[in-house]
Amino acid sequence: MTASFSHQPRTPSSSGPPPECPAHSHFGRVDDLAWLLGPEALKDPLAWYENLRAKHGPVAPVRLDGDLPAWLVLGYREILEVSGTTTRFSRDSRIWRPFREGRVPPDFPLLPMMAWQPVCLFLDGEERSRLRLAVTESLDRYHRRGIRRHVMRFTRELVAKFAERGEADLADEFAEHLPMLVLTKILGMPDEYGPRLVKASRDMVAGTETSVASNEYIVETLKRHVRRKRGSPGHDITSWLIEHRSGLTDEEVWNHLRVILIAANETTVNLLKSTLRVVLTDPRCHASLAGGQMVLPDVVEQVLWTEPPLMTVPGRWAAVDTELGGQKIEAGDMLLLSLAAGNQDPAIRPDPSAPLFGNRSHLAFNSGPQECPGQNIGRAIADTGIDALLALLPDATLNIPESELTWKSGWMTRHLTRLPVTFTPPEAELLEDDEAEDRAAAPEGAGAGARPSPWGAGDAAAGPVPPRPSAAPVPHARKPWWDTLRTWLRR
Ligand code: HEM
Repeated sequence: MTASFSHQPRTPSSSGPPPECPAHSHFGRVDDLAWLLGPEALKDPLAWYENLRAKHGPVAPVRLDGDLPAWLVLGYREILEVSGTTTRFSRDSRIWRPFREGRVPPDFPLLPMMAWQPVCLFLDGEERSRLRLAVTESLDRYHRRGIRRHVMRFTRELVAKFAERGEADLADEFAEHLPMLVLTKILGMPDEYGPRLVKASRDMVAGTETSVASNEYIVETLKRHVRRKRGSPGHDITSWLIEHRSGLTDEEVWNHLRVILIAANETTVNLLKSTLRVVLTDPRCHASLAGGQMVLPDVVEQVLWTEPPLMTVPGRWAAVDTELGGQKIEAGDMLLLSLAAGNQDPAIRPDPSAPLFGNRSHLAFNSGPQECPGQNIGRAIADTGIDALLALLPDATLNIPESELTWKSGWMTRHLTRLPVTFTPPEAELLEDDEAEDRAAAPEGAGAGARPSPWGAGDAAAGPVPPRPSAAPVPHARKPWWDTLRTWLRR
């Protein structure tokens, strides 16, 4: 552990800084701290985490923009400890020392994700439980009513736009759009909201110079939407939030819609891209899928281990002086949870090449009271979207060498910039079949299991399951996913 830490009173000296100098805190000298948004971290975040782990152990001091220090939690067990101990690690960002001392500039790029808002993300205790219940129950209600109908419709519509060309960039023309189109639908918004919200939410999460403006755009759109839904409710998450017995105000409703949009879109886009990449480039995965030893949900789960869509979670704030992973944490310190580093922690994965087949105990959705309440919606969009896409383009092949694929990294997420493929244009009737979505949809309120599902375990109950002891393939061979789906679509 190298973070020099002392609770001892520091003696001012003529050569040294005054004790209250933010450049010399218990994190160590701010100039010496690894920079969370620095070129090294953005170029290869996984390698950067490992360097930090080697130097500092499971909890490392880092520097944010504006020379503000924070702790980056890299250890699997330490992430669970922080997430599960709300008495020591609060969600209330108002206790962050730089906020209290007025040291956070108004254009701080992480501000949209950290400035306190009256939403469950930033609350503890009873108030949090009230709001979290409304969110969880409203999301679950839609899940049971069959999200896949929208996924299949929008997949068909997106493919129809590029089908004739026999080539497409699946990152830009498919994965970037599908989640927000489905989300606007389940939130009860008009279709045309989708494209602008895609742009604004990506920008906001990336922490760019225009993040604050993008956030304002999203907020204005949601305020208008809630006013409209108050007057004309429907079968959608917005209406269910409005009518929930927790009695949310309009402000609470639009604030939670914002949380849902931001939490759901970027993460699901990334999951789609990463899973598509594995399916298109990993010959063993392709062979296992085609031979029926694996189904897409297995691939999705593997990706959630190796490339969690949300690499770093903002944030937790120490409510008391405490200790974590050998570091002394002071009340008011900020902690960022590196889920990607936690997933590859040698303390729980001494052999990173050991198979993870069937093991859902990754941190991609975090754990504890804040565990992602939309995880099965995210899984369903990814599984169903890729199933439906590959049913339409069964011979899609990456048309550049895998080594030429590039990623864009921010401090929270990392995503593929493009996935160019070639394919045989699908038969027009597959793209025009307007009835398919209705046939495929589960009956209202019947849940995802109402029909045989080509994506199998994707809608299984949330939460980790014990690891399987070996990578042995499941004993019964399944039909290739595109055969199953194609038969199903043509019924
Ligand atoms: C598949 C992609 C997804 C991933 C990897 C993911 C990941 C996460 C993680 C790690 C958290 C916990 C953050 C924390 O500990 O502070 C979270 C929270 C949350 N997620 Fe997801 N998520 C995904 C999809 C979704 C979807 C599709 C929705 C909604 C439709 C959603 C809604 C939420 C909400 C509302 C929270 C806040 C929960 C709370 O604070 O109590 N997520 N998500």
